[in-house]
Amino acid sequence: MADSQRHPFLHGLSKHRGAPPTVVVIFGASGDLTARKLIPAVYNLGVDNLLPTDFHLVGYGRKEIPDDEFRTLAADAIKEFSRRELDDEVWGRIAGNTTYVAGGYDDPEAFVRLADHIAKIERQVGRDVQALFYISTPPSVFAPILRNLGASGLAGKHLGQPHHAKVIIEKPFGRDLASARELNGTIRSVFEEHQVYRIDHYLGKETVQDLLVQRFSNAIFEPLWNRNFIDSVQITVAEEVGVGTRGGYYEQSGALRDMIQNHTMQLLALTAREPPVSLDAESIRDEKVKLLKAIQPLRLGPDGDVARAQYAAGMIGGKPAQGYLEEEGIAAESKAETYAALRLSINNWRWQGVPFYLRSGKRMARRVSEIAINFKRPPGTLFAESEKFNLAGNTLAFQIQPDEGLSLILNAKIPGLETRTQPVKMNFRYATTFGSNTPEAYERLVLDAMIGDGTLFIRGDEAETSWKLCTPLLESWSDAGRKGMDSYPAGSWGPASADALLAKNQHHWRQP
Ligand SMILES: NC(=O)c1ccc[n+]([C@@H]2O[C@H](COP(=O)([O-])OP(=O)(O)OC[C@H]3O[C@@H](n4cnc5c(N)ncnc54)[C@H](OP(=O)(O)O)[C@@H]3O)[C@@H](O)[C@H]2O)c1
Repeated sequence: MADSQRHPFLHGLSKHRGAPPTVVVIFGASGDLTARKLIPAVYNLGVDNLLPTDFHLVGYGRKEIPDDEFRTLAADAIKEFSRRELDDEVWGRIAGNTTYVAGGYDDPEAFVRLADHIAKIERQVGRDVQALFYISTPPSVFAPILRNLGASGLAGKHLGQPHHAKVIIEKPFGRDLASARELNGTIRSVFEEHQVYRIDHYLGKETVQDLLVQRFSNAIFEPLWNRNFIDSVQITVAEEVGVGTRGGYYEQSGALRDMIQNHTMQLLALTAREPPVSLDAESIRDEKVKLLKAIQPLRLGPDGDVARAQYAAGMIGGKPAQGYLEEEGIAAESKAETYAALRLSINNWRWQGVPFYLRSGKRMARRVSEIAINFKRPPGTLFAESEKFNLAGNTLAFQIQPDEGLSLILNAKIPGLETRTQPVKMNFRYATTFGSNTPEAYERLVLDAMIGDGTLFIRGDEAETSWKLCTPLLESWSDAGRKGMDSYPAGSWGPASADALLAKNQHHWRQP
């Protein structure tokens, strides 16, 4: 029996057998993401023997970096950031095929040089090689890179054949609906949709992929997964850190753009979508888009479905933390929200009447991303809340990070001669069951793009649908200035206005 049949979690990884000879070109190769995630991801794929036999890595950037120096930088990045130690033999194999091309992102001649470089690699390999372009630069240069990939012929390389060129695009994908449409327009003028891989690295996380398995492979969940049994859903993406030195970036972004529009909306779509007709990428993404389209427009204004706030001074881990407005690079009258919460209604057969609460914030009580499904309570004829009966609603919580796993809150009898009850928690932890050395999201995503599997990437219409929901809110907040901006102490679970959002339905936020 094949490994993938015996063990469903190996299914995705077994697909590497289809990865053709590949040259991965990283634009922005001297950057932070390349060092922290991309080089370690490539290295770990090498350790796991998941890279194609003919694999080449090309760094690209404006700085002149000799090949040797780039290899040294890459080795240093692996030593510092990889989940596994540097193995000289594995790295030696990758390093032998690692080179660097210097050039501007808006310089057509530099892209001709890049095309020549790739053609040389192809001659060396002796057969067709697919080019996978990873755009890991600030978004200001996404469009020039895309246009130059088109003008140099690199985007159309081997189009119509199995080794066609592909492009991975980092987030943020636009900053509102208009800019996302414009970026999609630039992409479509150069690439066909099946060549494009828009990253949301949350989709590469084990627990996020596990959502599909849990929902559709366990008979106990799917029959309950609807308005008849589910009372509400809460999705939390909380960070403990503040803006640190990224104040300049954050002032242009805020929590809605930085987290809600992408990560939390993706978690929502994965949680609430209908069963796809098959596991192929288009069927899965069709269901996500259908779900996103069923979300009702947000009611804005003071009595609406939204709350926003900035962190004030408080305590984090027993240490004092300053407020957002005191951080470096932040305007005294800053309009950037460090916390956002939404109450969403999904107008379809399955979910009508079930509120979905989304929240994301910086400087919150602890770093955690989770999806909590709160079930309706049974009739209180036998057990009703009282001094003897401490009861909770059943909650199924998928913990995405840290400490990936799944927990279920149940009510149980406290041992003793008297019948007393107490909520208890059943836990499944990835690290305990499968060991802690699971692949990082970027490993899975780079491998899938090499193979040509777009399941865990955002389709163009999906990005636009999500922006369509968030853009009116962004505009209303921009028009309102600081009016309606609440605050919360650093180290807390958010502002009073977000609590009030749930109190309208007699709900309250979980403290995960
Ligand atoms: N870092 C992360 O953890 C992270 C996480 C999620 C998503 N992302 C996304 O991934 C992308 C890369 O992030 P990063 O943190 O690696 O970015 P970065 O370090 O700021 O930039 C990457 C490289 O792009 C080039 N670059 C920087 N600013 C530029 C500018 N204004 N114009 C032209 N080129 C410029 C530089 O290379 P040269 O000077 O050599 O050309 C730089 O080394 C961004 O879109 C970011 O939003 C990053």
